[in-house]
Amino acid sequence: MTASALSSLQSHASRLSGASIAQLLKDEPGRIERHSLKVGPLYANFARQRYDAQAWDALLELGRGLDLGAAFRRLFDGEKINSTEGRSVLHTALRGNLSQAAVAQEAHRTAAEVRQRMGALIQALETSEVTDIVSVGIGGSDLGPRLVADALRGPLPGRFRVHFISNVDGAAAQRVLAPLDPRRTAAILISKTFGTQETLLNGAIVRDWLGGSERIYAVSANPGRAAAAFDIAPERVLPMWDWVGGRYSLWSAVGFPIALAIGFDRFCQLLEGAAEFDRHALEAPLESNLAVHHGLTAVWNRNALGLASQAVMTYDQRLALLPAYLQQLVMESLGKRVKVDGSPVDGDTVPVWWGGAGTDVQHSFFQALHQGTGIVPADFIGTVHNDDPYTDNHDALLSNLLAQTEALANGQGSEDPHRAYPGGRPSTTILLDALTPQSLGALLAMYEHSVYVQSVVWGINAFDQFGVELGKQVANTLLPALRGQSRAEDPVTAELIRRLGR
Ligand code: F6P
Repeated sequence: MTASALSSLQSHASRLSGASIAQLLKDEPGRIERHSLKVGPLYANFARQRYDAQAWDALLELGRGLDLGAAFRRLFDGEKINSTEGRSVLHTALRGNLSQAAVAQEAHRTAAEVRQRMGALIQALETSEVTDIVSVGIGGSDLGPRLVADALRGPLPGRFRVHFISNVDGAAAQRVLAPLDPRRTAAILISKTFGTQETLLNGAIVRDWLGGSERIYAVSANPGRAAAAFDIAPERVLPMWDWVGGRYSLWSAVGFPIALAIGFDRFCQLLEGAAEFDRHALEAPLESNLAVHHGLTAVWNRNALGLASQAVMTYDQRLALLPAYLQQLVMESLGKRVKVDGSPVDGDTVPVWWGGAGTDVQHSFFQALHQGTGIVPADFIGTVHNDDPYTDNHDALLSNLLAQTEALANGQGSEDPHRAYPGGRPSTTILLDALTPQSLGALLAMYEHSVYVQSVVWGINAFDQFGVELGKQVANTLLPALRGQSRAEDPVTAELIRRLGR
């Protein structure tokens, strides 16, 4: 986005600064229809965002000027849009076949082959004594599998109980392993690089606890290293590739724990749901493209209204891990301050993403959302149909979702300032027909593509993450200092090490 596009959006925002959301709805016939989209199992309503028709046209114009359609084509065709690392970005090829480009075709073919191998490994495990699976990985090698396995598992354990270890804190491993029987447990070590400290240390704990590598599987883009480090037989190592970013990888063999938790067929349905959304993102015109609508709304809130945080509230307990998953997807992708060519971006990029599960969070931080000085736009996500037998609860859950979005938008006056609600707090409501593998696949693909839209608007690379490297390097130099084998140079760190008694 150029500086002049940014200032044009900001002038629309100033023009609208006094307009209430209720007024915008009153003044614009057709607003709800224009800002509601139904794509497969997803419905989204953006009518409570604080743009009017003119501002929305400016956003669409921005999207047209950037040729978002061509940008999607470059993604699906495997052009090296991860330019800082010289890589294609082909997570869409893991779940669908929407490009004739040779590189995408090859990715799609290899992905299907590996998926078949994964299916065969699952079949073999099903006929074994194994009842529990421990998945070891962190970041993109953990958050997606953890979210989907939790969201789509039934109320009772399936054939396998799947557990996750990510944090390098040994207490995490201890808690997961203590109740399990090593003779009936298998482990999957997931790491794209197989150089991640947390996963190597936790993998070693699990291998020692299992008494060897016989029931250890690995998923990695560095399969040789995985096999050698843990002495894993090659048939138990599943590959991934440098064209899949960690936070976009749950569709690959990184989803092995998902397939074990919910069944291989349902894992394939998850992929189908995402692929259907991919087709929509690639083919729908900008005006009716849900990923574009979501992405441009995020740009409006950040750049025109200057809102520095964005929340996501899940009115379905099974999606409770979605905010944590989205934090990595969105903030690791968009937390950049220079454009692809290295020049500084105009204006701000990613806000802070956070959130929680309704109705719990209504009783914690919603006070601040209703009456605090800061405005936090939020996505409210619910499911039309519940799968539990407690329909009264589902009605109550949905009435709370509806009530919160309405109250945040409209507020309520009072002569007593302590009891007044200012309103004007924007939200988007997203409804899934029901929580199924297909609808969850579509929802996650929607967020992935919205992130891509935002990255194109800001001119940044959504697919690298150099920002996480410095902390890792410093930790590597401080480990010997903590063990008394070297000295920390930074005086505060040196004092803290002294306090730690080392
Ligand atoms: O530290 C960030 C990160 O590099 C993420 O991008 C990635 O998902 C995670 O670490 C884990 O990396 P790996 O899969 O290579 O262990």
